[in-house]
Amino acid sequence: MPESKPIRIWVDGCFDTMHYGHSNALRQAKEMGAYLVVGVHSDEEILKNKGPTVLKNKERYDAVRACKWVDEVVEDAPYLTSLEYLDKYNCDFCVHGDDVTTMSDGTDCYSVVKQAGRYKECKRTIGVSTTDLVKRMLMRKINPEGTRAECDHEYIQDKLEKFNDNKLPKDGDKVVYVDGSFDMFHAGHAEYLKQAKELGDFLIVGIQGDDLVRQIESTYPILNQEERALSVLACRYADAIILDSPHQLTDEFISKHNISIVVGADQSIINRTKAETKIIPNQDIGSKSIIARILADFEIYQERNRKKGEKAILEAEMLAKEK
Ligand code: CTP
Repeated sequence: MPESKPIRIWVDGCFDTMHYGHSNALRQAKEMGAYLVVGVHSDEEILKNKGPTVLKNKERYDAVRACKWVDEVVEDAPYLTSLEYLDKYNCDFCVHGDDVTTMSDGTDCYSVVKQAGRYKECKRTIGVSTTDLVKRMLMRKINPEGTRAECDHEYIQDKLEKFNDNKLPKDGDKVVYVDGSFDMFHAGHAEYLKQAKELGDFLIVGIQGDDLVRQIESTYPILNQEERALSVLACRYADAIILDSPHQLTDEFISKHNISIVVGADQSIINRTKAETKIIPNQDIGSKSIIARILADFEIYQERNRKKGEKAILEAEMLAKEK
């Protein structure tokens, strides 16, 4: 009997400020086959069809590349999904979330693949979108301290279970530990985790709770702990996570998790643990820089959110503040 060919899947999109909704779409798509090719549109194509992006080409391409369910990234993929592209990358069908995505002229981006019977849907993740994250960042203008981000805990818990591979280190594995807030997870975080992972065999990532982040940064993170954990779990370099990670890494904590080396961004790490430490400086792009970009272009983004029907909250709050 001839061996059946492994199913190859195509997914495309903007993946701007890549979030756990995007990762969850990629996770579901990968479950439908053996190999996942992800086409990412260029800034120019997105500008023509949807509007300006927050993160630029390379930042978005690299963020998708770091996702553990992605096998290959195709840069500058066309906005209208074509059979030529599916064939060029040997993909059997295309997967997209269960919402309609249109070109600037109103055409359904998936009309061609739908007609050809080469289209499948996955479930869109509720409670997160690029627009929603921009809105959360804009709120910083009004309330710099922020508030703890709300979410449907039961819904997110289900996603946490689906994202987590429950990996354990093997006997003799050198365990590396790094902690942080990992807010607005981006390509810089992924590169950081990659370098940390290279120091050993198994990487544990500690996710700081919302209150600890507030203590350290004087502001709540944009995403709450569970949402931040999802983005870390979606990253190919993280083997396991520890929620509510402590600031002080006691001997008991180090030995409980069999940690050989603790990674930090600067000298302060040596005051937090007696274990062996290694400094890996932060990458150029940081969560703070993403938030700063949004706040610097406040009017542009507020307009973008207004177009997306998100106007009420922000405007009301701004007016209340002015009075
Ligand atoms: N997606 C999803 N759940 C979300 C957001 C996006 O499943 N909450 C899916 C989309 O359906 C698509 C893929 O992620 O299959 C890439 O989405 P993208 O092209 O980046 O655009 P949007 O759907 O507009 O995402 P966002 O609202 O975050 O901009």
